[in-house]
Amino acid sequence: MYSIEISNLTKVYNKKKNEVRAINDLTLNISQGIIYGLLGPNGAGKTTLIKILLGIVHPTLGNAKVLGVDINDYSVRRKIGYLPENHKFPQFLTAEGVMKYFAELSGVEITNLDKEIDRLLDLVNMSKWKKTKIKKFSKGMMQRLGLAQALISNPDLIFLDEPTDGVDPIGRKEIRDLLVKLKNDGKTIFLNSHLLSEVELVSDRIAILNKGSLIKEGTVEEITASKQFYIIHLENELPNNIVQNNLKDFTIKKSDNDTNTYECHISDTVELNRLIDILRANNVVIRAVTPQKNTLEDMFISLINKSEQN
Ligand SMILES: Nc1ncnc2c1ncn2[C@@H]1O[C@H](COP(=O)(O)OP(=O)(O)O)[C@@H](O)[C@H]1O
Ligand SMILES: [Mg+2]
Repeated sequence: MYSIEISNLTKVYNKKKNEVRAINDLTLNISQGIIYGLLGPNGAGKTTLIKILLGIVHPTLGNAKVLGVDINDYSVRRKIGYLPENHKFPQFLTAEGVMKYFAELSGVEITNLDKEIDRLLDLVNMSKWKKTKIKKFSKGMMQRLGLAQALISNPDLIFLDEPTDGVDPIGRKEIRDLLVKLKNDGKTIFLNSHLLSEVELVSDRIAILNKGSLIKEGTVEEITASKQFYIIHLENELPNNIVQNNLKDFTIKKSDNDTNTYECHISDTVELNRLIDILRANNVVIRAVTPQKNTLEDMFISLINKSEQN
């Protein structure tokens, strides 16, 4: 069962002049009960996508369903929580006041509202600020309150647009832990971020968006595995004649800063063992073979660069 189904979605802003294609023929399905991370540089179309899924922005072409219901059906929003990017709550309200305000806006009958507000403020570690006016809050406190507000109607699906933007490292860790807790309670979380490490650490799957187009989708492992390579430490320098005669079909590069160390791009372990057999048959002494993985950041930059060239 999918929480979100997106089919051939396109959004073009300013159709008359300075046309901006914010979403470009996007098709994507997102399973229930996972943390899904949408990554992309500023202007990639992440916020536009969330706004379309929430019915705030209308798509130019294509359609989408959330929780099995067409996005044009407003009733489904009762089951959805939303933390907007750069949200602004009325400054004269207290933390508790903000929660009450959004409880009413949500249109959902909440039994024992005061208790539920206490529970949510406690969940985001904001209990002691309950009676404090929010104009005194830091960015991190505002984001935590924003998260509590997004949970007020006990939603099945939660959209978070840049939830850790402007939050310090400890606050970020707290938010990540909270997202995992919510997932363990069976909720689906759709997370937008331009911060790679944030998304990498919590998401079950990720999509990378650039200029409105989907350029990669999968688990973090799948996305980073495609460029696996090995570092091979040898006892001595690799003789040139072996490289030229026996290792022609391998891509081997001598390491710049480590003597007798080579970087080898190999697709699988069968190939790796073939390489080792050749080295051993030529009496090359191997000290160590270490698999290396590109980080999501390496992959992100190379994918964005590649899509820019097309
Ligand atoms: N209301 C709007 N009118 C015109 N252009 C917009 C509007 N909202 C966003 N855009 C443009 O659409 C593109 C995608 O923006 P956005 O969805 O905010 O990206 P992201 O959230 O990934 O930074 C950008 O080029 C942005 O300037
Ligand atoms: Mg955005």
